[in-house]
Amino acid sequence: MNIRRTLLLGLMALAASPLVLAQQPIVIKFSHVVAKDTPKGKAADQFAKLVNERAAGKLKVEVYPNSQLYKDGEEMNAIQLGAVQMLAPSLAKFGPLGVREFELFDLPFIFDDYNALHRITNGPVGASLLKKLEPKGIVGLAYWDNGFKDFSANRLTKKPEDFKGLKMRIQSSKVLESQMRSLGVIPQVMAFSEVYQALQTGVVDGTENPPSNFYTQKMHEVQKYMVQSHHGYLGYAVIINKKFWDELSPDLKKIVSSAMDESTRYANAIALKENADATDAVKASGKTQVVALSPAERSELKKVMVKVHKEQESRIGTELIKSVYKETG
Ligand code: LMR
Repeated sequence: MNIRRTLLLGLMALAASPLVLAQQPIVIKFSHVVAKDTPKGKAADQFAKLVNERAAGKLKVEVYPNSQLYKDGEEMNAIQLGAVQMLAPSLAKFGPLGVREFELFDLPFIFDDYNALHRITNGPVGASLLKKLEPKGIVGLAYWDNGFKDFSANRLTKKPEDFKGLKMRIQSSKVLESQMRSLGVIPQVMAFSEVYQALQTGVVDGTENPPSNFYTQKMHEVQKYMVQSHHGYLGYAVIINKKFWDELSPDLKKIVSSAMDESTRYANAIALKENADATDAVKASGKTQVVALSPAERSELKKVMVKVHKEQESRIGTELIKSVYKETG
């Protein structure tokens, strides 16, 4: 046997030895579609940092931002197959998985502010929604905030009639589809990673997103107006593959849970400011004009869009919607 072959066999034996195997960390691939410099991007990095510091080499979180690994529409498949272990999809993206109730969060004007929203996400309604993911092979760990959406377009859209005939990109939610139709908009479902180009080339005329997503995807380079409608909420459920979770040791579960609690508090503490800063950055760019709505203008939009609640009642669940009205008073 020549020396190279002996060395190679020796290395292979070493790699398979329990000593080396025991040193290999269990890896959590955490994939998401937004920029690192957003509430979700920062919270995912914070979560990874905490786990990696505390797990003493036994568990490692690797974060893949910006649709690097998977785009919308692919990532739910990837987590169910175990190709990634964690995601934090927007609540608007669970319908295609067969859990329509999350589209509750897409109803326009259902939450007045973060406080009203937190009564749901931190209460029994939020917990019961996360439970619905388990038969799909997914465990819900937490809700992370982003913020309230603004409309953007190359036409100024302050009044309901201003929207008529525009094509707008939406996330894959039937409730958002119905919201856009209530304004006479032609909705187009599209992956987040494709929005900039679609706006640039005129495939769509506009979209909706919280300012942090708008700014970090550089949509201000390709949109003339951003109207501060704050007409709906966009936030996330942080999820993990159930088989992977069930097989983690109690010690590692504890590390993941406490890191998740801390990064959830962090995400929800920075979301408001991140979005305010992004709005300022859009204004400072001088490219997109940021337009405020008067209370009367906002209620005119609300009057038209709120009809979606009734229309989508059978999809989301009448009782569920009623319980949200009750909780948020
Ligand atoms: C979108 O697709 O607009 C958002 O869900 C992106 C995100 O994850 O915030």
